[in-house]
Amino acid sequence: MLSKLFVLFGFIAADCVQAETGRQAWLRYAELKGPSLQQYREAIPAAVIALNKSAIAENAQQELVRGVRGMIGRTLREESGIPKEGAIVLGTEVAIRAAFPEWQTDEALKPDGYCLKTIRRGQLRYTIVAAQNDRGVLYGVFHLLDKIALGEAIDSLDERQSPYAPVRWVNQWDNLDGSIERGYGGRSIFWDDGHARADLNRVSEYGRLLASLGINGCAINNVNADPRILLPALVPDIARIADALRPWGVRVAISVDFGSPKTIGGLDTFDPLDARVTEWWKSKADEIYRAIPDLGGFVLKADSEGRVGPSAYGRTHADAANVVARALALHGGLIFYRGFVYDHHMDWRNFKNDRARAAYDNFRPLDGKFDTNVIVQIKNGPIDFQVREPASPLFGALERTNEAIELQITQEYTGQARHTVFLVPMWKATLDFDMHARGDGTPVKSLVAGTISERPAGGFVGVANVGLDDSWLGNQLSQANLYGFGRLAWNPNLSAQRIAEDWTRLTFGDDPDVLKTIAGIQLSSWRTYENYTGPLGLQTLTDITGNHYGVNVEASERNGWGQWHRADANGVGMDRTVATGTGYIGQYRPAVASMFESLATCPDDLLLFMHHVPYTHVLRDGKTVIQYIYDSHYEGAAAVRQYVRDWEALQGRVDEQRYSEIRAQLEYQAGQAQVWRDAVTNWFWKTSGIPDAQNRVGHYPDRVEAESMQLQGYEIVSIVPWESASGGKAIQCEQSQCVASFRYDGATGWRTIRVQYFDQNNGVAHYSLSVAGELVDAWAANDGLPTQKLDGSSSTQRVIAGIALRPGDEIRIEGVPDQGEQAALDYVEIGTDRE
Ligand code: GCU
Repeated sequence: MLSKLFVLFGFIAADCVQAETGRQAWLRYAELKGPSLQQYREAIPAAVIALNKSAIAENAQQELVRGVRGMIGRTLREESGIPKEGAIVLGTEVAIRAAFPEWQTDEALKPDGYCLKTIRRGQLRYTIVAAQNDRGVLYGVFHLLDKIALGEAIDSLDERQSPYAPVRWVNQWDNLDGSIERGYGGRSIFWDDGHARADLNRVSEYGRLLASLGINGCAINNVNADPRILLPALVPDIARIADALRPWGVRVAISVDFGSPKTIGGLDTFDPLDARVTEWWKSKADEIYRAIPDLGGFVLKADSEGRVGPSAYGRTHADAANVVARALALHGGLIFYRGFVYDHHMDWRNFKNDRARAAYDNFRPLDGKFDTNVIVQIKNGPIDFQVREPASPLFGALERTNEAIELQITQEYTGQARHTVFLVPMWKATLDFDMHARGDGTPVKSLVAGTISERPAGGFVGVANVGLDDSWLGNQLSQANLYGFGRLAWNPNLSAQRIAEDWTRLTFGDDPDVLKTIAGIQLSSWRTYENYTGPLGLQTLTDITGNHYGVNVEASERNGWGQWHRADANGVGMDRTVATGTGYIGQYRPAVASMFESLATCPDDLLLFMHHVPYTHVLRDGKTVIQYIYDSHYEGAAAVRQYVRDWEALQGRVDEQRYSEIRAQLEYQAGQAQVWRDAVTNWFWKTSGIPDAQNRVGHYPDRVEAESMQLQGYEIVSIVPWESASGGKAIQCEQSQCVASFRYDGATGWRTIRVQYFDQNNGVAHYSLSVAGELVDAWAANDGLPTQKLDGSSSTQRVIAGIALRPGDEIRIEGVPDQGEQAALDYVEIGTDRE
């Protein structure tokens, strides 16, 4: 009893202290108000009974108590038998049927599925949560609580839910030292300094979030696996993490390195066909399963991006996967073998080379050769999580192999949680895409779920990379991607709108204006981001050999990584046709291939992914390609400015902390979208020689370049790549303090001043801005953007609104460098106030 009270007060305290930092995500259980509250006060009985005893069942019951208390302000009484009063009864089908023989069902639930049912006995009403297993009971409880939070009636329930696929996993790319590869929400919740963290509370909290979505597995270390994960000393650490996740129905898996038999196993080989290697994997699996009997299995990235693999011995991916699979099979474990295999040293001068072909070329010939506990884990597109890619042809090509789709929740190429990009519409575009694998009607979702073939396992894997930050993912709005992944993995037929709206209501409450604004931003955000970073299938035009964040249009070219867009003076796009190009399109089934092959039927959104065309090629909307590139960038940047205005209209209607965080993030994004807009449009203007029909590109009437200001101490520098700074130049300060100033020559009026400066991560420079001798703003360049350089990643905008200007006023910026950070400036723009 004492421990339960402790849990109870712990929850209350946690709810108060962490009220609206984002840490409770969509599980806030905020107090209901008005008629809604009344409805549930009448519908919800006083007692709860869990018929089964297990850690998961206990969590289900506790969650129900917690949720009802938070939303309705009533504490359910925990009973041990069916009372002679209305109650909520939780249990497996078997247990429920024993207690309620009158409950009849014709259809069996799938594993993890559940049923919510109201049963009446005379005047008494019982709310039943029945499931195939304990995990399903927990999921049913979360669903019941969601219904309450969303205002749905619960007094006459009759609902069955089963997951679309058995595999609903997340992967975490966490390193053992506590850093996270492509993680933007802080340090690892699992690891620190080579071992599992001493305090794994956040892991339990994560388990709860995952369970609320029906996610049943989590790989806890980087796919670029540190071989040490398989050392005996690490087994107790993995076991502790598994203990923290198990009560939430989440099984743990680990990523392993294929060279382990040699690097840590003491053998002189890791050849998958060597008997000693077979034995090594087997005894390693036995050792780990002794400590963690329900381990989900292993994830393996081999022969990719410098990782060793079977090619070292002339063996196949099937040989590699199967040697590990056989070691795991005895324990019911799975191996997730990654389809992300390609050569990153390809000759870029050969126009027949194509990285997009790699997954199919590597795995298609091996179809049918993988053991039944191997799942080939395939990224949604053939390249690497770009802002838009077609569905990987491999989904339609494997007929006798389990497959899972790998989606990236963490926003690597999609703005690193500094840009709002709701990825559900993008994922749905792939999941709903008909591969015509067996005639019509074989969308990717049905292939990965194995519903079309007789594959025993398959489903959905999301690369989540949550961290210790309260927001989990580095940005409040980015949480919707984790939520959306989970909802789609359970039911990919849900609409993006439904997911965006449910998430918004659970996370921010029921104010209709808040709902409209947030769901509106989320649902348009992918297109917006695509518009200013890589439209028409160009892929994300970022620094692909560096941080994958800021703009760098040519970074993809003239190197072996194969993310080429092939833009030159005459045209743009990769020719992937069968007729004249790399032949990639021929990897699709004929119905799909003929659609992509023909310029007449290839969708404009993927045009430049599939074809090389002249800039004057006319799109379906009548625009030329070049004009579309210009227009989409201006539209994208304008859309983000509008997001800021829309958000500001919500002041006072969203709690203060999240309101301010999101406002700052959107304002930053608006500045970055402008950097992208100018960089990409100028690059294509220079390369194509074709001007913008609307005369915007290269003409910035409100802008004063820093290099044209009066400079004291500042020196002019050329920026690399040139397109990431206005006019290709900026000013930097190599002294203790520098000044740049100019006289305003516009009309009298209220103005907004936008200062484009560079926030490198190697120091904290300070800036101040005065107008006509009066200090109006001062700020520190203290963000942790992913660069030490002056470039598109560090370029940042400071917005100073509400300034009265008169002609002749001196505008003066003082910069104080710090360590390597040079208080650099690109330009100042003066516009109509709050424009
Ligand atoms: C991307 C990402 C890498 C990651 C790789 C993978 O290329 O940038 O950090 O290791 O994908 O999925 O294996």
